[in-house]
Amino acid sequence: MSAPHILAVGRCLPNRVVTNEELSRTVDTSDEWVFSRTGIHSRRFCERETGLDLALGAARQAMERAGVTAADIGVCLVGTFTPDHASPSTACLLQRELGLGEDTICFDLNAACAGFLYGLKTAHALLPDASRPCALVVGAEVISRVMDMTDRNTCVLFGDGAGAAVIRRDESRSWHTVFGSRGDQSSIRVQGPGPVPSAIHMDGKAVFRFAVEVVEGSIRRLLAADGAESVNDLDLVVCHQANARIVDYVAKRLKAREGLFYKNMDRYGNTSAASIPVALDELVQAGTLRPGMRILMVGFGGGLTWAGALLKW
Ligand code: UT7
Repeated sequence: MSAPHILAVGRCLPNRVVTNEELSRTVDTSDEWVFSRTGIHSRRFCERETGLDLALGAARQAMERAGVTAADIGVCLVGTFTPDHASPSTACLLQRELGLGEDTICFDLNAACAGFLYGLKTAHALLPDASRPCALVVGAEVISRVMDMTDRNTCVLFGDGAGAAVIRRDESRSWHTVFGSRGDQSSIRVQGPGPVPSAIHMDGKAVFRFAVEVVEGSIRRLLAADGAESVNDLDLVVCHQANARIVDYVAKRLKAREGLFYKNMDRYGNTSAASIPVALDELVQAGTLRPGMRILMVGFGGGLTWAGALLKW
């Protein structure tokens, strides 16, 4: 048996806060509509910051807190669907900025909003082949750069940000994971790269139905694998922060106790691959997530993809 031991996490958000009220000055929407349908009040948008700046801020914080240096990192993965460049990857740029060794395995992966958990699984699997003991797993997005700011169906939903984790393999631990993809369903599409300006197109209702199905299903499968009787046997559940109604619906279906499912989309919107590590960092900093706790995470989004993990913090 082996599982990732998450040594530390970090986050970095752009400075600019964009409220629903501000968006309502340029598109036909309102704080009332956006908050009641999504649980989002505001999000952060990059002005001068790049995706690399965000990834670097989160990675540095996580490495410092983990007490590791560049000499300890053998794998560097960045989950993103909005990299600064198609090439070089954000992971390679991070390697340069952090001074990681030439023998570090560096690449970006695109599993959209499930990207952090795909990265966690991949990094854990690659570590035995790496020449150093730790992996850096980052979720970093600048979604504002691919949004059509005249489309009220999507421009109110997303935000920019990055979260990072430093992990090590621990042979004394075990974890349970679920992964899946539905490449035949393209209810979220992002145009580009190319001469046509990028834009997100989403069939919100179809994605909502998909999300509640796979989130509930993944949680039930992870609980069964763990031998847990109820979601209330866990200490925390962190879902991808796309919509408070998705989280609340699943929590209700599973008869979860109040507060078990964490929510922070009110302040950040949907930050795709960054949403889970950003939430983890908030929970650790607040003292809510502590060593030994049993935590379940589920991501879902474009692809379509989904991923879940149940582990001990
Ligand atoms: O990370 C990727 C995963 N993504 C998701 O999980 C997204 C999942 N889907 C959702 O979160 C929801 O479907 C949305 C929040 C995107 C939309 O909520 P909804 O309750 O499904 O609304 P709707 O799309 O059915 O729209 C209802 C009405 C429409 O007007 P009509 O046709 O009924 O007259 C929309 O045009 O609300 C209108 N509308 C808006 N009104 C004010 C859509 N966007 C807005 C807006 N402000 N921003």
